Amino acid sequence: MSLGFAQRLSAVSPSVTLAMNARAADLRAKGVDVFAFGVGEPDFEPPPHVLAAAKAAIDAGASKYTAVTGIAPLKRAICDSVARTRGFTPKPEQITVTVGAKHALFNLALALYEPGDEVIIPKPFWVSYPEQVRMMGAEPVLVDTDEANGWRLTPEALEKAITPKTKAVILCTPSNPSGAAYPEEAMKGLLDVLRKHQVWLIVDEIYAELVYDGFEHVSAAKLAPDMLDRIVVVDGVSKTYAMTGWRIGWSIAPAKLAKVLDVVQGQSTTNATAVAQHAGLAALTGPQDELVEIRKRFDARRKAMVKGLAQIPGIECRLPEGAFYAFADCRGLLGKKHGDKVIATDEDLAFFFLEVAHCATVPGGAFGAPGYIRFSYALSEERIAEGLASITRAVASLV
Ligand SMILES: Cc1ncc(COP(=O)(O)O)c(C=O)c1O
Repeated sequence: MSLGFAQRLSAVSPSVTLAMNARAADLRAKGVDVFAFGVGEPDFEPPPHVLAAAKAAIDAGASKYTAVTGIAPLKRAICDSVARTRGFTPKPEQITVTVGAKHALFNLALALYEPGDEVIIPKPFWVSYPEQVRMMGAEPVLVDTDEANGWRLTPEALEKAITPKTKAVILCTPSNPSGAAYPEEAMKGLLDVLRKHQVWLIVDEIYAELVYDGFEHVSAAKLAPDMLDRIVVVDGVSKTYAMTGWRIGWSIAPAKLAKVLDVVQGQSTTNATAVAQHAGLAALTGPQDELVEIRKRFDARRKAMVKGLAQIPGIECRLPEGAFYAFADCRGLLGKKHGDKVIATDEDLAFFFLEVAHCATVPGGAFGAPGYIRFSYALSEERIAEGLASITRAVASLV
């Protein structure tokens, strides 16, 4: 016997951004002002009524275990909020409140995937989707999409990817990393394909409230009431209400699956933190007008970021529909030299942006899109302008 690790982890990659984050932290510790284009969280605080509700919950004794799948008022509030914003009305027994949306996805992975299963994931993808599939010994089937088609999976590509082994399809709209989102017709096209196959559809809607220029997010669950026995929606308060650290997410699953998720969570984490659930409740039931302001702020940043990136020779950038990421095509810079060092890959380029321009970013290879770089615009317009000016100067030094 040896002190080994579980074999199922052998195919799982550590996060490629770790080295980048460590280097950025290093630079910051040395006093360097690093532009945070790499982050995946809003730069503002949760609404004050959320913080007040959390403090009140502490004083009112929210220190005990709750029901595994969450406190009843939060589950009801999730149903009401979904009815209001997504146009379908789930029942509380379909909700599992989790320790963030990532945990909801992990519960689903445990409940659904086994060795031999295939899970279809369009590229570019959020990094945790394929790794969670691999952790279960199942196989992610990564399907190409085309930037010219808005990074959207086409019905034809989906049909081609489905095999008798397909267990699930994971969609993210709006997407991290591309910011691209599925309008109604595009989503309907995919649902028409899925209707013919017995596969789960998991839709990650964590960025659904962050869409711009009148784009309308549409839930697959609203469009396909006939498929509610196999559609799962994942969401949470992290991005919408700037509550990443509170760790409150949820899944909305067919009741049968929700019962299984209750077992999975009951044998692992039990409930999400009681106080955080009360904070989540306040976020969903409190005034929503701040969201309008937040959307406006992000929209202005989105435009500033995309315009600024597009002005840098060698970089092209599509205007995304939602989330807070610009996904820039940087292939025009690959092969150039900084001194005598060739910038061969997006990872080299991201390190160059960090070392020379002091801008932290995420290389696209991490998301299955080599040659691209993800720029988060969850920082002020002034910081965006300064950071882009710094990248422009750095790029001008390349030969
Ligand atoms: C697409 C996507 N899904 C889920 C999550 C996880 O969110 P949470 O903080 O609720 O776990 C993230 C966070 O970056 C994300 O980008």
